[in-house]
Amino acid sequence: MQGKRILLIVGGGIAAYKSLDLVRRLKERGASVRVILTSGGAEFVTPLSFSVLSEEKTFTDLFDLKDEAEIGHIRLSREADLVVVAPATADLLAKMAHGLADDLASTVLLATDKTVLVAPAMNVRMWQHAATQRNLGTLRADRIHVVGPDEGEMACGEYGPGRMTEPAAIVEAIGALLGAKAAAPRATPRLVSDSAKPLSGRHVLITSGPTQEPIDPVRYIANRSSGKQGHALAKAAAALGAEVTLVSGPVTLPDPQGVRVVKVDTAHEMLAAVEAALPADIAICAAAVADWRAADEAPHKLKKPRQVSEATLKLSLNPDILSTLAKKGPKRPRLVIGFAAETEDLIENATAKRARKGADWIVANDVWPGTGAMGGDQTQIHLITAQGVEDWPAMSKDEMAARLLARVADAFAAMRPAAE
Ligand code: C5P
Repeated sequence: MQGKRILLIVGGGIAAYKSLDLVRRLKERGASVRVILTSGGAEFVTPLSFSVLSEEKTFTDLFDLKDEAEIGHIRLSREADLVVVAPATADLLAKMAHGLADDLASTVLLATDKTVLVAPAMNVRMWQHAATQRNLGTLRADRIHVVGPDEGEMACGEYGPGRMTEPAAIVEAIGALLGAKAAAPRATPRLVSDSAKPLSGRHVLITSGPTQEPIDPVRYIANRSSGKQGHALAKAAAALGAEVTLVSGPVTLPDPQGVRVVKVDTAHEMLAAVEAALPADIAICAAAVADWRAADEAPHKLKKPRQVSEATLKLSLNPDILSTLAKKGPKRPRLVIGFAAETEDLIENATAKRARKGADWIVANDVWPGTGAMGGDQTQIHLITAQGVEDWPAMSKDEMAARLLARVADAFAAMRPAAE
């Protein structure tokens, strides 16, 4: 980090005090740090504290014309190797996502062409709110790097994800980005190396549950999927430190903690939500997507005609989400995993499915009613990869999820870095 120039933007939040420690650590490693303190940030820490630690003037909204003449906002960004926003409040993330520029911090963020790393910090409900998660999706698509937040006790007395990642982890993330500066990663780079959290900094996209395809306003086509497996996978990925987007069809399960949940009904909606969540490092399609939908959804409840004992429902083929995700191209997650639920010729059908859909791995399970796999808590799977078939013993869906995600983390660690 010797000689690198960091522009640190400190947003308003109790975590602002941690950014003092961040400045100290960066200086210790030989970096120079310039601080922009938002008016919210200045409510928690004074500009003077940052100036003392950074040995530079701290820039605030009191930025006057003289400053603008001496060092304009464009220069602030031009003279940096990396821009770091810590803490990044929900408000600052929203401004960034929408390109607002109504103060010095947001103006610099809109004007910069440098790599930007954000360390979000906010109340757990604000973090989990659909608007914040949508903004994060936009920022990720704009190649903004995200580190954290951590889960834990919050200043507001609540518990959950939303605490700003510790300064040591932010320093590590900064080091990783400076080391790989020229890279334009396809998905989120590995920012925090932590053996207990081997998927830190990775974005894992998971589909779960059934889809419901309306026939008329009161009837639909669906299946017996409970979403238990997909939701267990989301929990397991989050436990390994991943940023998880769970796109779920209608289920009665609670939303897993620390996971961004997008709720959909139909296959078309699921595909749209999946595409909006890209880029992702890993995609796991555990949803039991209805293959067919009613060709024409009736606007009113269909009537039963008198004296007619047969009727025909015309169906249209639904899009295949797994195949769409697995298509070669810049948006393809590096590891794409599908499920194959079969009631006969399990291994042959699943192996053929791996090739046909372009998935890297297929998790095959027998869903014959007697197995209890569909809707139950237990499962017995066969993992089909390019290397062959592994037969796993029967176990709970939670345990299978934990084991599969551990395999995913190992496989990912063994892969050659994309463009990091
Ligand atoms: O073809 P089949 O439905 O058996 O394939 C199962 C796999 O494909 C699962 O991973 C499932 O989530 C995925 N799939 C999909 N979109 C579909 C149908 C299946 O993503 N329309």
